[in-house]
Amino acid sequence: MAPSPRSASPRLQTAMDDVAESLERTLMRLLPDTDLPEAPLFDAMRYGVLDGGKRLRPFMVVEAAKLFNVDSYRARRVAAAIEMVHCYSLVHDDLPAMDNSPLRRGKPSVHIQYDEATAILAGDALLTLAFEVLSDAETHEDPRVRCQLVTELAQAAGGHGMVGGQMLDLIGENEEFDLGTISRLQRMKTGKLMCFACEAGAILGKAGEPQRKALRNFAHDLGLAFQVTDDILDVEADPSETGKPANQDDNAGKSTFVSEMGIQNAKERAEMLVGQAVRHLHVFGGRADILRDLAEYVLSRRM
Ligand code: IPE
Ligand code: IPE
Ligand code: MG
Ligand code: MG
Ligand code: MG
Repeated sequence: MAPSPRSASPRLQTAMDDVAESLERTLMRLLPDTDLPEAPLFDAMRYGVLDGGKRLRPFMVVEAAKLFNVDSYRARRVAAAIEMVHCYSLVHDDLPAMDNSPLRRGKPSVHIQYDEATAILAGDALLTLAFEVLSDAETHEDPRVRCQLVTELAQAAGGHGMVGGQMLDLIGENEEFDLGTISRLQRMKTGKLMCFACEAGAILGKAGEPQRKALRNFAHDLGLAFQVTDDILDVEADPSETGKPANQDDNAGKSTFVSEMGIQNAKERAEMLVGQAVRHLHVFGGRADILRDLAEYVLSRRM
């Protein structure tokens, strides 16, 4: 079971636990145990994706999908696909060639538990499985919806999204970036996948452009706030809470909001972004209250 997101409101905590539980079952069905000779690959994929993490992106998918009365089974499949991509990005992010981190979600990172080659392959296979899941008719009966999900996930995860952001993040270890470049980096490496997580529910529900735009804008600001708080937690939080080593960014000389403007200004920036994010939800009225809670949680989280 996923660890509890401490400092979440009781209502948010319950909702997040529910999503985490049902997501776990979906992921287990999509990634069954195998006794094939290549089983270590599947073991490493299961190790990297099951039983851990806050499951924030799946939560965004499921809660945004509810706004459009989307069937929960479909939303869970899309949530699982996005979590697979997120977990692949974490497995590769921890590799010695990238952040060289031995600890993830309170456990040895995949390349420590298995080996580097297996971790690379497990990440590759999680990424491709995500697209297999989205393109399956079980995800939506309308092929145009499936095609849109595939296209948008590819854009969020690829060179102009998460992977491009990761490249900038590595370049930022040796070059000093200005705030504009750091914002762009963070929006790409973290924000784009969160944008897709929020918008996917609207795509599944064939929602109109104004509602899609509202969710996109919400996630655009929240995604950046989330990465700013990740950078703050890197300095301030306890590894026993975050499940990952402390001070990784400073040790690697990364360019972050914290390195550029200091902790206090970074906190103020995150607060400002969360306030901005929440304002985009007004079109949904009280039906988006749980997403408002989620936005507040991004500021107070300890993991
Ligand atoms: C960590 O993401 C990597 C970033 C994009 C900052 P999360 O903080 O959502 O990690 P898990 O899924 O809860 O482990
Ligand atoms: C990674 O950012 C974002 C990804 C796309 C994986 P970080 O390197 O800051 O994430 P953590 O702190 O290791 O979770
Ligand atoms: Mg990194
Ligand atoms: Mg890292
Ligand atoms: Mg970090």
